[in-house]
Amino acid sequence: MFVFVMVALLICTEAPGSSAVTPVFVQTGQDVFLDVNEADVPEEFVVFLWRFNGRNNLVSVSPKSKPNILGDYTGRIELSEKKYSVTLKNLQNTDSGVYTARLTTDVVKTLAEYKVTVQDPVSPVGLTVDSVSPSSDSCNLTVTCSSVDSHISSTFTCDDTTCSQEGGERSEVTKSGASLQVYHLSNASIICNHSNQVSWTQDMTKNIWVFCPLRCVAGAESHTSVCVVKTVVFSVGLVIMVSAVITVHLMEKIKKKN
Ligand SMILES: *[C@@H]1O[C@H](CO)[C@@H](O)[C@H](O)[C@H]1NC(C)=O
Ligand SMILES: *[C@@H]1O[C@H](CO)[C@@H](O)[C@H](O)[C@H]1NC(C)=O
Ligand SMILES: *[C@@H]1O[C@H](CO)[C@@H](O)[C@H](O)[C@H]1NC(C)=O
Repeated sequence: MFVFVMVALLICTEAPGSSAVTPVFVQTGQDVFLDVNEADVPEEFVVFLWRFNGRNNLVSVSPKSKPNILGDYTGRIELSEKKYSVTLKNLQNTDSGVYTARLTTDVVKTLAEYKVTVQDPVSPVGLTVDSVSPSSDSCNLTVTCSSVDSHISSTFTCDDTTCSQEGGERSEVTKSGASLQVYHLSNASIICNHSNQVSWTQDMTKNIWVFCPLRCVAGAESHTSVCVVKTVVFSVGLVIMVSAVITVHLMEKIKKKN
C-alpha cells in the first residue's frame, strides 16, 4: 500500500486546478483561516494535504483518520469543525507565501490556493507646513508628510473659496511597500494617509485658512469667522495701544506743565 501511494504521488500529474489563487493580507501576529469546501472532498481518496510554497506540508488527512499536524506546525495550527479547513495562528513575515490544499485520488488536484501576505502595521506619519505664500487673491501652501522611511511634499493653491492641489492627489509607494498619500478634504484640511493592506495611520492639518490669515473674504464660512475674530482682536489691540501712547503722552505734558 505504502509503495502504491508513493508511486501514485510520483507519477500522478497535477490535474488542472479547480480554483484560482485567493490573495489574503494578514497583520503580523494575527491568524488566518484557510477554507476548503468540504463538498469537494470525495469519501474515497489517498491523502489530503495543506502545503506551503509547494514544499512543506502543514497538515495531512487520510480518509479514516484524524487530521495530522506535521513538524514545525505543531501548536501553530487550529483545526476547525470543517474537517479540511485550518486556522494558522500568530503569523510572522516568514509565513508569507502560497498555501495549497491538495487532494490525491488517482490524480492530484488543487482544491484551494491562498497567497498569504503578512504585513507589519504602518508607522505613524507627521504632516508639516513648510511654507505659506499669501498674495492678494490666492495663497500657496506647501506641506510635507513624513514616515520613518519616506516623505512626500505637495503644494496647494487656494483662492476665495476653493483649494486645488498642484498635480492632483499625490501618492508614493514607500520602501516597505506601503503607500503615502496627501490630499485635501472639502473642509480645507490637508490629510496625509500612510497605509498598507492591513493598517493605516494619518496626520491632518487644521483648516488651510488658518495658515493663510491675511485673507478675509466672504465665502468659506469657517475661515470667515477666523478672519472676523482676528480682525476684531487686531483692531481692539490697535485701539488700546494707540490710547496708551496718547495717555502717556498727555500725562507727560500735564506733568511738565505742573
Ligand atoms: C502660487 O503658485 C502658482 C503656481 O505655481 C503661481 O503661479 C502663483 O504665483 C503662486 N502664488 C503665490 C502667492 O506665491
Ligand atoms: C487611508 O487609506 C486607507 C487605504 O486606502 C483607507 O482605508 C482609509 O480610510 C484612509 N484613511 C483616511 C482617513 O482617509
Ligand atoms: C475636516 O473634516 C475631517 C473629517 O470629516 C475632520 O476630522 C476635521 O477635523 C475637519 N477639519 C476642520 C478644520 O474642520
